[in-house]
Amino acid sequence: MNKDSLIYFLGGGAMAEALIKGLLEKKVMSPEQIGVTDIRPDRCHELREKYAIITEYPQKAEHLMKADIVVLAFKPKDLDSAMDAYGRDLRSKQLVISVLAGVTTQRLEELLPAGTPLVRAMPNTAAAVGLSATAICGGKQAQEAHLAAAEALFAATGIVQRVAEPLMDAVTGLSGSGPAYVYLLAEAMLAGGVAAGLDLNTARALTEQTLLGAAHMLQASRRPPEELRKQVSSPGGTTLAGLEALAEYHFAEAVQEAILRATRRSQTLSKIVTTGTN
Ligand SMILES: NC(=O)c1ccc[n+]([C@@H]2O[C@H](COP(=O)([O-])OP(=O)(O)OC[C@H]3O[C@@H](n4cnc5c(N)ncnc54)[C@H](OP(=O)(O)O)[C@@H]3O)[C@@H](O)[C@H]2O)c1
Repeated sequence: MNKDSLIYFLGGGAMAEALIKGLLEKKVMSPEQIGVTDIRPDRCHELREKYAIITEYPQKAEHLMKADIVVLAFKPKDLDSAMDAYGRDLRSKQLVISVLAGVTTQRLEELLPAGTPLVRAMPNTAAAVGLSATAICGGKQAQEAHLAAAEALFAATGIVQRVAEPLMDAVTGLSGSGPAYVYLLAEAMLAGGVAAGLDLNTARALTEQTLLGAAHMLQASRRPPEELRKQVSSPGGTTLAGLEALAEYHFAEAVQEAILRATRRSQTLSKIVTTGTN
């Protein structure tokens, strides 16, 4: 993305806002390089007030045609109506980036002008705090430069991994749904801390920092999680006693099964979104 590029978001919801915030905060783009249209006028107003970006109502999306990059950021259910509304303003030289969960590049390519370079992305909710784990894959016409531009966009809200498109469901099962698994772990840690005698505020503060600290240790040390776990579990110690309880309740198997089941669900939903069949 160069200093003259214009990026245009179709749909100005939570995900578009996270990306816009990241692009501005990391100074990847300036406000006049970012356009957005949303069917809700109040939302356009809100985004313009907050970020001083270009906002337009769908009937007057004049900057859309001039954009170098168009981000599809509405809900998957709105795909057909959005394409009816904007399809004629799209140009095959524009890079289209889709964050629509479950919508394949093949399906999108059917709706876009022939030859349009397309990148599909699967970010997660932590994009809102600049810590998304995003996976991207390219459509038929996507070249290295297109993937690199998409990487630069999503790097503004966290880390980016390239994957082959059939693995997008596994990404959804792991990092897409993953925040909820961690929230459940946090809930259980809080409840356990309270059951052990701590007050709720203290248990919450300790839980948050423990999760944050362990994630940082994983990232900073680059060592396998198994090694880090063994390092803190001395024989006859407290951590080992806790880990034994987790093994009794099949914690590791449960988490693996959660990821596999979410992956299968994503495959099913993707089929429904893409073909309308179950
Ligand atoms: N949020 C996440 O963490 C996350 C993670 C991965 C992928 N995604 C994907 O990101 C996309 C956006 O999700 P989101 O959470 O940002 O949803 P959202 O907050 O509901 O934002 C979508 C926005 O687009 C508007 N919209 C609908 N049809 C439109 C149209 N034809 N033209 C312009 N705007 C239109 C919606 O208005 P109305 O509300 O009036 O319909 C809404 O304001 C989805 O496809 C989702 O699969 C999101």
